[in-house]
Amino acid sequence: MSEKIRVLISEEEVDARIREIAARISKDYAGKAIHLICVLKGGVFFTCELAKRITVPVSLDFMSVSSYGDDTKSSGVVKIVKDLDQPLEGKDVLIVEDIIDSGRTLSYLIEILKGRKPNSIHLCTLLDKPERRVKKDVVVDYSCFNIPDEFVVGYGLDYAQKYRNLPFIGVVELEEE
Ligand code: IMP
Ligand code: MG
Repeated sequence: MSEKIRVLISEEEVDARIREIAARISKDYAGKAIHLICVLKGGVFFTCELAKRITVPVSLDFMSVSSYGDDTKSSGVVKIVKDLDQPLEGKDVLIVEDIIDSGRTLSYLIEILKGRKPNSIHLCTLLDKPERRVKKDVVVDYSCFNIPDEFVVGYGLDYAQKYRNLPFIGVVELEEE
């Protein structure tokens, strides 16, 4: 079997949409500073592109949570692999994710982060698969694209750690050689 990547959302479309979302965030947070929390590794490309286009002051921290192995199915098990460096107390926190699928990762993460007493906590994602949601309590405040239930790669998203660096969103297709 060989893998082929079909373009689902082009680089130009992703770029234009990130600009729109960044403008909306900048407006919503006018007069405040945003503490962006990048969920590694997948969220890193989106976080950088988004942060560059936000016009209010931004600080950044990183966290790594694992809910998936090198597989395309959720294990349902979530653990903190790397915690934040800085406290959240009194900060306006915006969590930046690559994709929200079942919502298990975020549901768990938001509960933990709320306990650290931020002033506010919101969620921004590059991609959302609403059909796949198991955790209905996860509210997505900013979503760039809703996508169908297909396994996607690129812009930070991987398939067995590959394809994160693709500048577009693509679907992995397996083909007989
Ligand atoms: P959730 O806990 O099911 O919402 O899973 C979220 C995490 O699963 C994301 O942060 C990704 O790391 C991974 N994931 C879910 N769907 C995809 C996909 O289509 N491609 C690559 N990774 C995915
Ligand atoms: Mg992720």
